[in-house]
Parts: sequence; C-alpha cells; structure tokens
Amino acid sequence: MTKTYTWPFLIAVLLASCTNQPETASTSPEQTESAGTWWKEGVLYQIYPQSFKDTDGDGFGDFQGVIEKLDYLQSLGITMVWMNPFFESPLVDNGYDVSDYRAILPRYGTMEDFDEMLAGLHERGIKFVLDVVVNHSSNEHEWFKQSRSSRDNPYRDYYHWWPAEKGDPPFRRSLFDPEGAWEYDSLTNAYYLHYFADAQPDLNWENPKVRQEVYDIMKFWAEKGVDGFRMDAFQFASKDTTFPKWPEGHEKDFIKWYGMRPQLHDYLKEMYEEVISKYDIFAVAEGAGSTFQDAHDLVDADRKELQMAYHFETVDMARTTDGYTLAEFREVFSRWDSAFVDQGWIAVFLSNHDNARLVDRFGNPDPAFRAVSTQMLNTFLLSMRGTPYTYYGDELGMTNVDMPNIEDYVDVAAIGDYKAAVAQGRDLEEFMQQLNYYSRENGRTPMQWDDTEYAGFTTGTPWKRVNENYREINVAAQDKNPNSVLNHFRKMTKLRTSNPVLVYGKYDLLDDEHPDIYAFTRTLDDEKILVLLNFSQDTSSIQLPGMVAAEEEPLINNYPSLEVAGNTYHLAAYQAVIIKIK
Ligand code: GLC
Repeated sequence: MTKTYTWPFLIAVLLASCTNQPETASTSPEQTESAGTWWKEGVLYQIYPQSFKDTDGDGFGDFQGVIEKLDYLQSLGITMVWMNPFFESPLVDNGYDVSDYRAILPRYGTMEDFDEMLAGLHERGIKFVLDVVVNHSSNEHEWFKQSRSSRDNPYRDYYHWWPAEKGDPPFRRSLFDPEGAWEYDSLTNAYYLHYFADAQPDLNWENPKVRQEVYDIMKFWAEKGVDGFRMDAFQFASKDTTFPKWPEGHEKDFIKWYGMRPQLHDYLKEMYEEVISKYDIFAVAEGAGSTFQDAHDLVDADRKELQMAYHFETVDMARTTDGYTLAEFREVFSRWDSAFVDQGWIAVFLSNHDNARLVDRFGNPDPAFRAVSTQMLNTFLLSMRGTPYTYYGDELGMTNVDMPNIEDYVDVAAIGDYKAAVAQGRDLEEFMQQLNYYSRENGRTPMQWDDTEYAGFTTGTPWKRVNENYREINVAAQDKNPNSVLNHFRKMTKLRTSNPVLVYGKYDLLDDEHPDIYAFTRTLDDEKILVLLNFSQDTSSIQLPGMVAAEEEPLINNYPSLEVAGNTYHLAAYQAVIIKIK
C-alpha cells in the first residue's frame, strides 16, 4: 500500500535537517555585514487580511479596515507589516493561488485603497512586506489556461507537464493532495505538477521567461513602494525537471529532493540583480533549505541573493498534542543562533497563518496562565537575535478555536489531511483531536477588537467563527489595562527597537540543563542584558553566579516584583524578566 503523507508530516520532514526604529545602527564587532539595515532592526507584524477588520459588512477583512487601524498598528511599536496575499484568486488556498499578480481581489478593495493603506503605513514609519507566491500560480491564471490549451502553446513551458504516452509519471508527493502531485489533464493527455493543491500548478522556474515574468511582477510592486518580499514556498521553485525515479527513503530529506537545486542560487542572484539591488528592499524566504549550508547560501550578504530566511524547526516541534520540551526549544534556538553568529540573518517566529495560536502551541491557554505565558513568549520572541515576526492577535494572547467536526473546516490543507487519514484507515476520533489542535484554521479567526458582536470585526456575518472568548480577550479591554498582554507587547517592542543590544548583541545560553527556565544573555560592547523566562506553571529558581543586576528595577517584568536572593532568581509561573547586568 502506498503510504500517504500529510501536511504536518511533510512539514516535519522539511526540517529533518534551518516607529520606533533606531535612526542609526550601532557598530560593533558582532556586525560583520553591512551595518544598520532597517529590516534587521525592526519588528514585523503579520496581518491575515481576511480576518483583520471588515468595513463594508461582507464578513471579510479589507484594506479600509487596515486603514482604520493604522494608529493601532503604530501604537504597537512594530515597524513592518507583512500581509498575506490579497491578489485576484479563486481562493482554493485562501489567496495562495493567484490568478492575477497585479490585480486586487475586489473583496479587499481597490488599487486606490491599497495605495492609501501603503501611504498610511509609510506615514507612520511602517514598512510593507508583500507575499510573493511564485512557486505556483492558480490554475485560473491566464498563463495556465494557455499552457493547458495545447501542447504547442507558447505558455506550455511555463509549467511542468508529463505527456501521458510516456507512461505514469514518477511519483511525487503533494503537501495538500493525498493522491500525489501529478494531475492528469485530458485536454492534452498529459499530467501537470502541483506540490500543493491541484488548483496550484507549479511554475517552471527553469524557463527564463517565467523568471522574467516574476521579476516584472516584483518590480511592479516595488515601483508602487512596497519595502519587502516574502517568497512563498520558495525552496521548491527549482526542481529536477527530468523527473527521475527517486530512491526509497528520500522523503527523510524532503527539501533536498523536492527543491533547493543548485540552480536556485543562480535564479536568486538574477533576482537580486534585476530587482532587489535596485530598491531599498529585502526578500525573505519561507524555508531555509535542509542544512545550515543551504540557509547560508540563501542569505549571506556577500552572495547577493536573499536577505533573510525562516525555518520551520521551531513551529514543528510543537505540532501535535504531545507538545514539546524546553530542552528541545532551547537547543533549536541556540543551534540556529550559533550558525548565524558571523554571517547571514534569520527571522524568529513562533506562529503564523499556517499554525495554531502561539499560546496554545508554546504557552498555556488555561485562563489562569494565558496572559502570563503569552507575555513570556512575546518576551522571548522580542529578545532573540533575528528579526521577530509576530502574528496578528498574538499581541493579545488570542487562542485556538474549538472545531471538533471536519464539516466546519474550509482549509484545503485540513481537508487534504482528513482525506489522507481516511485513506490510511486512521482512528478518526484521534485524528480530529490532533487536527483541532494543529489546524491552520486556529490562527485565522477574526481579530478580537472589542466585546461587541463579532468582536467588532464586522457588522455582517464573519467568514469564520469568532472565538467565543472575545469578551475577555480583546484590544479595547487590554488597551486600558497597563498589565495586559497587549501593553506588555508594546513595552517589549519599545525596548527592542531602542536597544541595539537586543538586535545585534551576542547570544549566550546559561544553564542549558535547567528544567524550567530559559536563561540567556545578550551582549554588545560593554552592555549586557539578562533574559530569564520561566516556561513552567510552577515557581522555579535559578542560580546564576556573576549575574548582578545593574539597576533595581528590571527592564521588563510581567509580574509586579522579582524575588532575588544573592545570585538566585526565583521566578513565578511563566515569569519573564529582562535585567541589565553590571
Ligand atoms: C506557504 C504558505 C501557505 C500556503 C502554501 C502554498 O506554505 O505559507 O499558507 O498554503 O505556501 O502556497
């Protein structure tokens, strides 16, 4: 029997291996690359536009909604916004299936609305990062319509086709389709390749015309004034287009076989030359290859390819209800940090639109601990080296939403996983428990603005159910409370963006065997900062010889006080403190 693989499994194997902006950059020995780049020093906030704020009552978020909330965004102290795709799309994968890369899906507004939103962000010192989805397009894109129309159409080579007379194509897995990544199309008696859903055919990056089309699209948006590109699923762009049969066991290094061909680096150099080098702009890749060498080859400044990448190793460790251990968490972050001490730059994130909510994954959603554990995680996120990426709602501690029935799911990935579970004869009750925990739908519920109907997200019927806990967890309530998760987040962004030590400082792990507390320092020139994070719901102590606070009051503390006796620090449940060290 052929084994079917699901989205969480495949993500796991991917890894088996990587406007308070300071005006000037600090120069330090730690900075071995071009100093003072705003995308290193900033804090990024991700907006899922469909769920942020609706202004026309259709139940879907829109650009005018973001415009309405510009002052809120500024109040967060973030310096960049990455917005998920809002282009023309049949929405098979909520916009990650683009049918026109230069057109706005009317549900979000018009190009004029986009321009107004961009100008509003820029006026507030916030940069804008565009999602560039070019490993694949939608099957409704004109290129694909042409491509499938006949074997000699000029667009035929924009995609990967396997003529049926050659027999069955060698099996390739799909991340969303349990049947595999080849789809038969009777119109020309051939199969096309789709690593994601069958409505997302993979573009053929080996074709120079395709690459030129992509650079033109990127230039179009750069000319409009966007400041960054997030390259979706990018490590898959270049593939072995001879499509050989692969040996048993290759799935263990999925990325190596499915993408990251050496040619990818040539294409990235070309992209740098044609687009990136011409603007004050950066590009971040989703995925960092399967080894640190791959990651460095993508992002080291002297290679002139990309400027940043993010890896999945962190979010994958807590993908199932089995959770994760602090030891694992600490090890992963420390390993990635040490690999980028001298060269390269990475993003740090714990949640996004492809994952469950931050607090459910890594913290403790129990009402007794939800706020403190979210504050602790946000302290971590904003005190590590690497650009912090925070996901809308995590500044409030928004939680997973309970969806025990498959009928309620709309996400193509969840439905694909369910079909795979059925095909494998898995225990469906147990499967649904897992899906309910890890599903991407958890992270896509409407933003909780206030305690009015539908959390102030819409006056119509929201496209997705609002989490029942919106009456307690919402912006309006937290705004007023100086100790809220929201105000803690604001304190952290302020601290981060006004202290270069938190951006560029060397990271040193302390007591790497402690069962509950993650302790590390960040050091820049003669400045040292100690970060103490209790990852447990019990009080816990840590002895740190030589770590004497320079000031009475910690710079950050999510509790009213901190108990210190000599060099022993006693931390309450999920307590997070940042201390200046003498
Ligand atoms: C990336 C996106 C995800 C999308 C997939 C296909 O992983 O983050 O949301 O479904 O690519 O475009």
